[in-house]
Amino acid sequence: MREDEQRRSELAALPKLELHLHHEGAAPPAFIRQLAHEKRIDLHRIFDERGNYVYDDFVHFLSVYEAATEVLKSPEDFARLTTAVLEQSASHGVIYSETFLSPDFCGGSDVGAWREYLHAMQEAADKAERDWGITLRGVITCIRHFGPEKAKRAALCAAETAGDWIVGFGIAGDENMGKPKDFAWSFDMAREAGLKLTAHAGEWGGPQSVREALDDLRVARIGHGVRAIEDLELVDRLAEEGIVLEVCPGSNVQLGVYPDLRRHPIEMLRERGVKVTVSTDDPPFFHTTMSKEYEDLHRAFGWDEEIFGSIAAIALDAAFCDATTKENLRKKLETAA
Ligand code: HPA
Ligand code: ZN
Repeated sequence: MREDEQRRSELAALPKLELHLHHEGAAPPAFIRQLAHEKRIDLHRIFDERGNYVYDDFVHFLSVYEAATEVLKSPEDFARLTTAVLEQSASHGVIYSETFLSPDFCGGSDVGAWREYLHAMQEAADKAERDWGITLRGVITCIRHFGPEKAKRAALCAAETAGDWIVGFGIAGDENMGKPKDFAWSFDMAREAGLKLTAHAGEWGGPQSVREALDDLRVARIGHGVRAIEDLELVDRLAEEGIVLEVCPGSNVQLGVYPDLRRHPIEMLRERGVKVTVSTDDPPFFHTTMSKEYEDLHRAFGWDEEIFGSIAAIALDAAFCDATTKENLRKKLETAA
């Protein structure tokens, strides 16, 4: 085997934990096309001639994403989606995944409907765990550009189903719309229900957006957060407070936040003591996988198995699941080491 192929298969085999994955955003395009075909929904505008998703920029990406969710209409569809997503992730060495689930796409944030969607996804996840050894937990996300009132409905769904499986609450969507504090009520409700918190910030917004997420929403993790690098005092605060960044390097490059991986700040943040983790965000949209992220980081920064091991340990610590689940995952990491 050639040396680079050997390296690639070693990196693919490393056990990985992924903390930042949008459930619908992980849908393989062929899966969405199949559902569109079954339901006679015309979605050709969101695919190119090779069958990949197409979009021009971040805001357009969000609208293509929402168009793809139009074919996901029932708990059964979300069960099939869960299976498709977990099969993909497991094939890249992922042993634990936290996906962002939005009740807005699952019965319009009605609590009764949401329970049915959730039940269907959990059943599919249980089977995937038996078949492929991958553990899934859910983080309910409200959607920023849908506004604070819809976010409250998502938070209510979250509070009603908080437990061993729904372990967190967060916010996704267009970071340029509204302010974190507009969503404080929803985050307070989720916190009181025992959920752990994360928020997208510092991807499109600068360092101030990260500060606002920390101060107004009191989150333990930040989705992206990479633009904190523009303010070294904030970087030091992240390091001191042990705030974990869910970094998605391939997503940032694909969407043009950074021109290429070598100019991405993940390595600078890590060297300055910030707890960084690695995720894919919306893998088929960004032409990535967890194995590809690892390969690219190896190539750009020389990350080796020791560094990837420390990244996995940080992700395990930062995971929102319970202590027993963590212990089982810790054993898997140790066995593989
Ligand atoms: N970023 C923000 N919001 C999103 C994303 C994303 O990558 N995917 C789906 N909603
Ligand atoms: Zn995201």
